[in-house]
Amino acid sequence: MNSWRNLLIHGDCTDAIDHVTETLREQVRLIYMDPPFFSNTDYTIKRKGQSSDRHASMVTDEHSYSDRWEGGLEEYLRFMKDRLEKCKSLLSNNGSVWIHLDYHVSHYVKVMLDAIYGYHNFVNEIIWKRTNSPKVQSRGFGSQHDVILLYAKDSSSFELNPVYRPIDRKAMKPYSYQDEKGRFRLIEIEAQVIQKTQGRRRFEWKGRDAPYLYSRKKLDEWWDQGLIYTSKNGRYSKKQYLKDVRGIPVSDLWFDIPPIQGSSKEYAGFITQKPVTLLDRVIKAASSKGDIVADFFGGSGTLAVAAHQANRRWILCDISDTAIGMTQQRLAEIGCDSYELLRL
Ligand SMILES: C[S@@+](CC[C@H](N)C(=O)[O-])C[C@H]1O[C@@H](n2cnc3c(N)ncnc32)[C@H](O)[C@@H]1O
Repeated sequence: MNSWRNLLIHGDCTDAIDHVTETLREQVRLIYMDPPFFSNTDYTIKRKGQSSDRHASMVTDEHSYSDRWEGGLEEYLRFMKDRLEKCKSLLSNNGSVWIHLDYHVSHYVKVMLDAIYGYHNFVNEIIWKRTNSPKVQSRGFGSQHDVILLYAKDSSSFELNPVYRPIDRKAMKPYSYQDEKGRFRLIEIEAQVIQKTQGRRRFEWKGRDAPYLYSRKKLDEWWDQGLIYTSKNGRYSKKQYLKDVRGIPVSDLWFDIPPIQGSSKEYAGFITQKPVTLLDRVIKAASSKGDIVADFFGGSGTLAVAAHQANRRWILCDISDTAIGMTQQRLAEIGCDSYELLRL
């Protein structure tokens, strides 16, 4: 698709989804949505004025978007249902939708997604630790996390690219053994307490009778490759070398992506702005280079920034003029001008 241009759409996401569906039906690999959370809050943008010799710069608040719903929860859920249904026809068969919410309505939206995308297409409920310092609450515990609901368009065609995080000091600790091939840790090859089920076979291998977890053939293979460690008391374990480990596999608990601080370089002043590292993880886990990724509640444009940097094609929409302006500014800062601005 040589004529492709990324799309920044200013308008209601329903119109945007309808518009792109005309030409891109079943061609979008990933849709990320970070809609209003039913938080009953009016959001503002923090703008820093110029400082002078005599005065420090003033920060002013500018209206961004409202997350208040006159018709209450019913109105909010109707709003979401329409949009979630429309998105489905845009997704490719191996595509997925990622809905970012929090405790206010994630449970309602999950039930809705089960109905629209199918219970069997549910993949994950990801918990992102979005703050290190929760507000003290008079009622209940302070909330520290957001929820990202991940559904595949068709779970039989969907595959997540494995994601690893770097091995930190804590994870490095077990790698306390060393030989000529480098640092390694030990992995049990004998059944431990709860693995010692009734039907488990014991057999003798290299002079030791034990309830082995692997076949004799596999154990021989590892022995020949020098991957079996013999302890002083004659017990066998498998060596896992640090150099062969790609990192720590990421689970559905995302505690390693820090929130944006007011002082951080990427903070554009958008209160509900998400970190580029968060969108980078989502994009790399569920799409490949050249794929089309979309965000119809784009805010300050974080998805477009992450997609540009990860060589994906992108579509981003927002109803707020301020959000579109901020997105353009952020794209300019990373040298991205290869997009079309469409006002619907
Ligand atoms: C939580 S923010 C998104 C923040 C974004 N992920 C970021 O990193 O900056 C939600 C956005 O949805 C937009 N929005 C609300 N209703 C909309 C609608 N009907 N169509 C398109 N955008 C809408 C708001 O203007 C707001 O910018």
